Parts: sequence; structure tokens; C-alpha cells
Amino acid sequence: MVNYKDLGLVNTRDMFARAIKGGYAIPAFNFNNMEQLQAIVKAAVETKSPVILQVSKGARNYANQTLLRYMAEGAVEYAKELGCAHPEIVLHLDHGDSFELCKSCVDMGFSSVMIDGSHLPYEENVALTKKVVEYAHQFDVTVEGELGVLAGVEDEVSAEHHTYTNPEEVIDFATRTGCDSLAISIGTSHGAYKFKPEQCHVDPATGRLVPPPLAFEVLDAVMEKLPGFPIVLHGSSSVPQEYVDMINQYGGKLEAAIGIPEDELRKAAKSAVCKINIDSDSRLAMTAAVRKVFAEKPAEFDPRKYLGPARDEMEKLYKHKILNVLGSNDKLA
Ligand code: G3H
Ligand code: 13P
Ligand code: ZN
Repeated sequence: MVNYKDLGLVNTRDMFARAIKGGYAIPAFNFNNMEQLQAIVKAAVETKSPVILQVSKGARNYANQTLLRYMAEGAVEYAKELGCAHPEIVLHLDHGDSFELCKSCVDMGFSSVMIDGSHLPYEENVALTKKVVEYAHQFDVTVEGELGVLAGVEDEVSAEHHTYTNPEEVIDFATRTGCDSLAISIGTSHGAYKFKPEQCHVDPATGRLVPPPLAFEVLDAVMEKLPGFPIVLHGSSSVPQEYVDMINQYGGKLEAAIGIPEDELRKAAKSAVCKINIDSDSRLAMTAAVRKVFAEKPAEFDPRKYLGPARDEMEKLYKHKILNVLGSNDKLA
């Protein structure tokens, strides 16, 4: 049994309380490899932002769970080495799909876990989430639950059509499960194809597709039922068109990739939404930078020469999110 506190990590409780009060959101960035982690830590340190490092089940399978845990421990030390005296770093399991997976993460040093029972019948979601909370809270590990289904693919759970969170269920869910935060569905979805072009309209100024607005009325109703309760938004990549264009320019083929406009995320961050999940944008930044090097320097074969620029591009992206979208900068002691 490894306790996250011994690794210098923190849970989300105090972080979320301050974010709600301060009208900003904490970035939750997924990582699968060293370059992503380095970029996240550098961006967080340089902007003085708390940060959530997210590990999905897929990331655990890809990179090895033990290695990822040691990388998160290393992230705390790296942040200190970069000059941050008191880094606030959470190691969070993203989309845990079973009690066993959540328990394993708690036991090996995660400070926060998500149990995603959103695809289950309501009572089963309540029972599973409660079981994870009862286990995790013994070790002061915080738990994120989910109500409502996001469109697209939620890891192994495929949800063709989203079902917005029912605000009538949130009090019962939060009270009976004891979860510390709640992920809700208001129109965001995972991946780089969040909307079909026929759902969008064309912005005459830019010629770009503009998606339909998020269901802020659902968020408002949830906040009215659970005042001050931490809310989480998944599927919040904005799919920057410059990266899509760059990928396509250098031989990629991303057609009609559309994300959540940053204005909507800015608005959400000012509310009780205190954790915003971003993964796809980092994948796009990395891919765009790697493709550019491959196209411009076909003789290059030192991975540092293409992963280095990819890391720089991701750092730029993370800083932009923190400074210009989530507002979590300058929040460290
Ligand atoms: O919500 C999904 C995250 O983007 C993680 O994706 O399961 O491919 O690692 P992944
Ligand atoms: P994106 O695919 O929009 O980056 O969402 C990531 C996410 O929600 C991770 O849980
Ligand atoms: Zn998610």
C-alpha cells in the first residue's frame, strides 16, 4: 500500500473548494508518456497552476501502471526542481470502470479516482460509486462520479447519443454515494469529432463551423440543486483548427474535426465547474508537430528531434489553456 501523501501528491478537495470560490477551473490533462508529463509540469509550474494528471485505463495498459505512478512521483520532484516550492499535483484515475481498478489505483498511490458508472442503470451506478467512495475515503482519496452519458466513446463504453444529466437525480446521487465531485453531461463529448457538420453553422467571418451551444441550462439546474458542489466537464477539448490544418497540410487526414469553443469553456470555468478534462487537444498538438518535422526533415531519425518540438507545442497548448481558458494561473501558495 502506497499513500499518495508520501509521494507529495494532493487530493482534489481543497483544490476544488478554492476553484469554485475563485471562479476558475483546474486543468485535468491526460498523460501516456514522458513528453506529455514534462510539458504538463512545466506549464503548471511556469503559470503557478495546480494540475490534475489523469491516467486512463488505456494509459495504464499502454505505459504500465507502476511506471506511470513513479512518473507522477517524479513530476512532483521535477516541479520542485523547476522552482516550485509547493506544487499541487493530483494523480487521478480517469474513467475507472470497476471497483477493482479504483482500489488498485488507491492502493498504489493515486490521490483521486473516477468511477464511471454513467452507463449503468441508476441504482447500480449509485451502489458502485458508493462502494468506491467507502474504500477511497479511508485513505483520504477523493472520488469523482458521473451522471448522464456523453456522446461518442467513453473508453470502452460506447454511447451513440448523449443523455444530458437529469438535475432531479443529482442530490440523491451525491448524498447516497458521498462522492466528492460529479461529472455531468451537457453536450460535450470525447475525441476530436464532437459534432457532425450538419449540427453546426458557418461563421461568416472565419468560414469555420460553429457547433451548437452547450446545455448551460442543465448546468444551472444542477448548480441550483447542489450549491457549491464540484462539477466536472469531460470531453472539453476545443480541437484547435490550426492543429487540424497543420496535420492535414503535412499529410494527415482529419475531416470535420470539431471541438468545444473556448468561450463556452471560459464561461463554464467561472461556475461550479472546477475540473475541465483535456486530452485530444494535446494529441493534436503532438501529432501536428511531429508531422511537421517528418515532412520538412525527412532525413531526421533522432526521436528527440521530433518529440522535442512536440513537447514544446504541448507546453504552449497547456499554458494557453491555463492562462486564457481555465484561469487557474497564480493559484499556488
Ligand atoms: O476520456 C478518454 C480520455 O481521452 C482517455 O482516452 O482511453 O484513449 O486513453 P484513452
Ligand atoms: P477530450 O477528448 O475532449 O480531450 O476529453 C478528454 C476527457 O474527457 C478525458 O476524460
Ligand atoms: Zn472523459
